[in-house]
Amino acid sequence: AKAVVVAIDGPAASGKGTLSQRIAEAFGFAHLDTGVLYRAVGVSVLRAGGDPADNAAAARAAYELHPEHPILQEVALRTDAAAQAASKVAAVPEVRAALLDFQRRFAAHPPGGAPGAVLDGRDIGTVVCPDAQAKLFITASVEVRAERRLKELQRRGIPAISSDVLEDMKARDARDSQRAVAPLRPAVDAFVLDTSALDADQVFSMAVAHIGSKT
Ligand code: C5P
Repeated sequence: AKAVVVAIDGPAASGKGTLSQRIAEAFGFAHLDTGVLYRAVGVSVLRAGGDPADNAAAARAAYELHPEHPILQEVALRTDAAAQAASKVAAVPEVRAALLDFQRRFAAHPPGGAPGAVLDGRDIGTVVCPDAQAKLFITASVEVRAERRLKELQRRGIPAISSDVLEDMKARDARDSQRAVAPLRPAVDAFVLDTSALDADQVFSMAVAHIGSKT
């Protein structure tokens, strides 16, 4: 049978990562956090001493990435420096093209023979998997997202300044939604969920109900 695909998009710290993991677990689907791929490309370029905004260097790093690449498991990918580098390489068309194959293969043939796949990112419902059975666009106000990110950093013992986190969030939002290729926006057939006033359990049950109605 053809694998079921659930596409979950949204801006940084919208809660889409946590939601995607819970959905994958509940349905027995494989999960791909596609942000990790862009982060890996960004970090590879930085490590090679390059500039993430340099198209050629970024494209080279993207073509070298494959599912077994050890960089995909590194904690270094979770840092803010990695996120900023990711959003720079993400604006390079060759990088997006190189990562498209990786993501589509995962969706078509979920690892472990899972009956479906959950992919989360910025352009899953619009570009990577436009035929996904269920599409969710998870969002929240930039202030709420910055607050959530700040709490997460504090929980991990990473010192951070509230105003810096908010500014970084705004800068990344602007880069992600204003770029020419695959900008962040909900697919026309996506279920848009603003989580500003919802907790993780409420978001989860609304998402499950939506997916249930589509699959
Ligand atoms: O989701 P995460 O914060 O890990 O993504 C890091 C960056 O990677 C985003 O800011 C975005 O620029 C880029 N990205 C993307 N398309 C995706 C996933 C991530 O452009 N599908």
